[in-house]
Amino acid sequence: MAEKKFITDREQLEKVAPMLKAPIKRQVFVCTGKSCSQVGGEEVMAEFDRILTEKGLRQGKGSKGRNPMGEIVLTTCGSIGFCSIGTAVMVYPDGTMYGQVQPEDVAEIVEEHLEKGKVVERLALIELGKN
Ligand code: FES
Repeated sequence: MAEKKFITDREQLEKVAPMLKAPIKRQVFVCTGKSCSQVGGEEVMAEFDRILTEKGLRQGKGSKGRNPMGEIVLTTCGSIGFCSIGTAVMVYPDGTMYGQVQPEDVAEIVEEHLEKGKVVERLALIELGKN
């Protein structure tokens, strides 16, 4: 196995990982674990992708239609324990854990929470540090 090099130079880091230059404000995790997938996790993920990409908010490669300088990182994740109340969606660094999210809820989460900073209370089951 090749020896892994630890990069310390910021410019070099940004060259190999251009996302380091993006003004990231939040990361959204959508659970696509087994239980959430059975209640629409993939569809919720697809809706976040569609809306965030259309608005130019999703950080990512331009070749994939995303914005290299986008403010939102969108990723899937595994189970967080909301298996019976999925689809689970988490927003960080806010520490908001949403449950029972359906594709039709995504536009509201994007507009209210990600764009205006207002948690969608009807879906927010846990707000870390506040419960
Ligand atoms: S499978 Fe999504 S929270 Fe368990």
